[in-house]
Amino acid sequence: MFETLTPAPPDPILGLSESFQQDPRPGKINLSIGVYKDATGKTPVLASVKTAEERILRAETTKGYLGIEGSAEYAARVQELLFGSGHEAVASKRVVTAHTPGGTGGLRVAADFLRKAAPNATVWMSDPTWPNHPGIFQAAGLKVKTYPYFDAATNGLAFERMLAALEEMPAGDVLLVHGCCHNPTGIDPTPEQWSAIAALVERRSVLPLLDFAYQGFAEGLREDATGLTALCQPGRELLVASSFSKNFGLYNERVGALSIVAASSETAKTALSQVKTCVRVNYSNPPAHGAAIVSTILGDEKLRTQWDGEVKEMRDRINGMRKQFAQKLIARGYDRDPSFITRQRGMFSFSGLTPPQVEALRKDHAIYIVGSGRINVAGMTADNIDRLCDAIVAVSRSAA
Ligand code: LMR
Repeated sequence: MFETLTPAPPDPILGLSESFQQDPRPGKINLSIGVYKDATGKTPVLASVKTAEERILRAETTKGYLGIEGSAEYAARVQELLFGSGHEAVASKRVVTAHTPGGTGGLRVAADFLRKAAPNATVWMSDPTWPNHPGIFQAAGLKVKTYPYFDAATNGLAFERMLAALEEMPAGDVLLVHGCCHNPTGIDPTPEQWSAIAALVERRSVLPLLDFAYQGFAEGLREDATGLTALCQPGRELLVASSFSKNFGLYNERVGALSIVAASSETAKTALSQVKTCVRVNYSNPPAHGAAIVSTILGDEKLRTQWDGEVKEMRDRINGMRKQFAQKLIARGYDRDPSFITRQRGMFSFSGLTPPQVEALRKDHAIYIVGSGRINVAGMTADNIDRLCDAIVAVSRSAA
């Protein structure tokens, strides 16, 4: 049976990390996958996480299964972080949350849930988007379409074109948006634009699904929830897939969530029962450790304050590297105005480098970035930034 198989193409992001590992060249630089590195080039375990883990290890008495949707405490912590304390939707129990293996797990459970709740719905996603998005929804049997998002001429949001396309969405279709720090462009709607999107969603009766993987990496934990808050109106439905990979640095613990906001608490309960059937036939129930870390930190005032500071430190370092990156390109006589880089938010810089230039970076300079031209700013350090800028200027002069 397997003899007839042809090789699958490597993943556009994780496949690059595999090639990077195999690259024997000294001084190679991996700025592909969205993983934070500190000034020394390490992906640290946050100090708040270490303390929480010590506590968990001491107190742990069992490895018994969690429930299908994970623990109630974790769900409550997730909801507070997403919606802010005392939010109407949470207070009226219109929100239900399932703990999922990472944000990707949350998206896939959302897709399986949508296949039941709205089997004929098309999921509309931004052009460009995270390369894994289309596959996740297609794997669940849903149709996907794109809407304009990036305006190459201004390096900004193609907002008018985006709204015009969304006006064509049939009622009942699903609008996938990035909660903040759009991946790969780093360009987010302004608060006013979020309000316009929310008004359109209501007028067109479409269902918003937020992919919220970078809370805290743009401006702050609450500030970054502007889009979510705009979309979460009384009586309205919404899905949120969220992740603690980045803001807690819990990448390999696979800890995320799917939250469903329904019009009433009764409907929310029904929705959760359907989500549980999707989870049970997939991974049965979630892994406990990462969620225990998150619950411990968010449930302890001192650890929570420490963690807030650690998120700010990561955000500030990324924004500092962003500025340096633009300045160093200017200093080298880069032929494009790189000021747009400082306006982008989150981990990534959408550099505008073409596929041949990306290829030349890898082949000639052992520098790995994503094929779309996305560079992980959070992976830049004092040690690699000069070589990176030299190489970008070189490929921009030699490759088309
Ligand atoms: C990324 O876009 O690099 C991250 O979200 C990691 C991933 O799973 O692709």
